[in-house]
Amino acid sequence: MEHDREITLSVNGTQVTRRVAARTHLVDFLREELGLTGSHVGCEHGVCGACTVRVDGDIVRGCLMLAVQADGCRIETVEGLSDSRELERLQRAFRERNALQCGFCTPGMLMAAQDLLSQKKKVGREEIRAHISGNYCRCTGYQAIVDAIEAAMEGK
Ligand code: FES
Ligand code: FES
Repeated sequence: MEHDREITLSVNGTQVTRRVAARTHLVDFLREELGLTGSHVGCEHGVCGACTVRVDGDIVRGCLMLAVQADGCRIETVEGLSDSRELERLQRAFRERNALQCGFCTPGMLMAAQDLLSQKKKVGREEIRAHISGNYCRCTGYQAIVDAIEAAMEGK
């Protein structure tokens, strides 16, 4: 592999060491090297939010970060947050309010929404919209997604 480098990072609580090419993006590393295909790849240049993952507690676009930049970091993906049940409230609300159709945007949307919920403040629909404005959905028209996030926030 050209210009490869060894990296060690924590992924969903498990320490992982791999050699990666310098050009490999974090989302491709997670999907192709680790088989964590929950993070999706849409635009590949930071626009759609489908690739959203958490790095050291903050959500980032996995297509804009190189895997080598994540060396030493703590990565959490939709699989990890789902297994730990951190997403449970949102997942239920999305299901109950039909906040997904094809589901392509959903992992990134859940990651962005959970980032808002974890701030533990109650905000209105406009702020919810602003918070997920970097996550594109081509199916739902967003209304049901905002409904679901609002319901999860209110503990419904
Ligand atoms: S694939 Fe990363 S923002 Fe679209
Ligand atoms: S549900 Fe299809 S892109 Fe959002």
